[in-house]
Amino acid sequence: MSNYTANESRYEAMSYRRCGKSGILLPELSLGLWHNFGHVDNYNLGKEILHTAFDYGITHFDLANNYGPPAGSAEENFGKILKESFSGYRDELIISTKAGWDMWPGPYGNFGSKKYLVASLDQSLKRMGLEYVDIFYHHRPDPNTPIEESMYALDLIVKQGKALYVGISSYSAEETLEASKILKDLGTPCLIHQPRYNMFDRWAEKGLLNVLEKEGIGCIPFSPLAQGLLSAKYLKGVPASSRAGKATGFLKVEEVNTTVLNKVHKLNTIAKNRGQSLPQMAISWLLKDKRITSVLIGVSSIKQLLDNIGALNNKAFSSEELKAIENIIK
Ligand SMILES: NC(=O)c1ccc[n+]([C@@H]2O[C@H](COP(=O)([O-])OP(=O)(O)OC[C@H]3O[C@@H](n4cnc5c(N)ncnc54)[C@H](OP(=O)(O)O)[C@@H]3O)[C@@H](O)[C@H]2O)c1
Repeated sequence: MSNYTANESRYEAMSYRRCGKSGILLPELSLGLWHNFGHVDNYNLGKEILHTAFDYGITHFDLANNYGPPAGSAEENFGKILKESFSGYRDELIISTKAGWDMWPGPYGNFGSKKYLVASLDQSLKRMGLEYVDIFYHHRPDPNTPIEESMYALDLIVKQGKALYVGISSYSAEETLEASKILKDLGTPCLIHQPRYNMFDRWAEKGLLNVLEKEGIGCIPFSPLAQGLLSAKYLKGVPASSRAGKATGFLKVEEVNTTVLNKVHKLNTIAKNRGQSLPQMAISWLLKDKRITSVLIGVSSIKQLLDNIGALNNKAFSSEELKAIENIIK
């Protein structure tokens, strides 16, 4: 058992943004458990990271069925931490999970069938020891299942009381519009979209953000630091303890290349001139757009978490700064 008591001033420092046209407010920073929370990781550190995040007003924790490794273990560990530390705070938390990527063998363990989505959420709820999640996402579009079937499954899950809201991830602008229309007709509007969006990956700017605004859907970019590339850590090589250095990390060493590092070096100088770290500038750069509801970070230490929270102290950019950044990343 944990003797954790949340910081009483946790809501004073954090700002919250409305998620699309919904009743839900999300903190400007949310915490994802993709890496650093599996059975291969340090459980007590994960727990301390979650305590610190909540102490700073981060009320939203993002999971998926396959987070670990092994797949499912981030939900198991999170469920344990919830029970040990957060049982008195459930109604102050927005907990999300997802299904869409490979989870179990055979034809019913991935993509977007009703069979998979419903069974997967049942498994996630058991692993986390929850009666419901706040948001359930379809994790990726399925080119072979009719979009109607995946959306009917999301609607069914809400009507069954297993999720309060639904979201989609990595759907294109066109797919998002189609999904949104179906969900609206069903009476379960899409709450939120989770795209990969950072200074190095700007596909969301080419249509998606406009669709989200028009449809009243929130936006929570994932991998805002391009998995850690948008920091100074790789400027002098690949540390063994980094995501690119670890065997279980999803960032490939090939992605840490000279072209990227040249840009990182220049961006780092602009960040320094702003009095920020590069991770802080990368987060502020996303938050400058009012269509962004929350930025979904991942951290492997308390130090990184505190650094990233510091981004919220300087979210304004001069037009010169924006131009200089644009010249580097365009
Ligand atoms: N919907 C989807 O398909 C999808 C896909 C991916 C992620 N997500 C969600 O988005 C969340 C965030 O994604 P992400 O983990 O890729 O985000 P990210 O913020 O781009 O990368 C996080 C990593 O960057 C490094 N880092 C973070 N803060 C730092 C700092 N201040 N200084 C130096 N390095 C720092 C750490 O890596 P080191 O290990 O090197 O320290 C950390 O694990 C995930 O946890 C998950 O919830 C969703």
